Amino acid sequence: MADESDSVHDKVSKITRAGIKADDMLDMYKTWAEVYDKDMESDGYTGYRKVVRVLAESQGERRDIRVLDVAAGTGLCGQELSKLGFSNIDALDASQDMLDVAKTKNVYKNFIKEFLGTNQLDIDADSYDAVIGSGLFANGHVKPDCLEQLIRIVKPGGMICLAVREERLRTNEDCKDLKPRMTALQSEGLWERVFHETFPGYSTGLDGVVYLYKVL
Ligand SMILES: C[S@@+](CC[C@H](N)C(=O)[O-])C[C@H]1O[C@@H](n2cnc3c(N)ncnc32)[C@H](O)[C@@H]1O
Repeated sequence: MADESDSVHDKVSKITRAGIKADDMLDMYKTWAEVYDKDMESDGYTGYRKVVRVLAESQGERRDIRVLDVAAGTGLCGQELSKLGFSNIDALDASQDMLDVAKTKNVYKNFIKEFLGTNQLDIDADSYDAVIGSGLFANGHVKPDCLEQLIRIVKPGGMICLAVREERLRTNEDCKDLKPRMTALQSEGLWERVFHETFPGYSTGLDGVVYLYKVL
């Protein structure tokens, strides 16, 4: 369990430890939700700004698109999207406690409490113009096995923009399949990569990787 006296680093390490089960992860977010934003700010977390910028740039002047923020947490991506003029945003997360904080931001239209995985989401095919997500891939969190579901709910021609802490791709067992899975989905003709970049300052001293894919 996370302890209130834990540093942000301790909390992040515990909640992404090898072998952590989804229920334990969600239990930890119960107590973390209230102070998550403050902790992330002190950790220098800015990955969510990058993923929003990349998606926004891909849209030119378009701001009326329907966006789903996946593993939205407390709504950092939604807030940033809202600042840039996006107003048709929904939030999806497996943690009610995190979604409750996201609601207070007044930037989302709909809140969807669902677990991202191989399960079929209760969302119609081709519902969204874009899916965005940051900080979702980690041990016990979202796994690459959900990518087909994300593709299913995005309209052809729509975008999926995701950011991950770079070291997780090498060190987190649950993330090691991300790059091969992304490549395989392109070979299967389901999406194509438009852009990707490794960037500094995902959080203090750590690189991130941002991926932008167009759904075919
Ligand atoms: C580190 S937080 C990131 C939140 C937000 N995107 C951000 O950038 O601050 C991870 C979030 O993913 C959610 N989450 C983890 N695994 C999930 C899954 N399989 N399906 C849906 N949400 C999940 C957690 O509940 C938590 O809110």
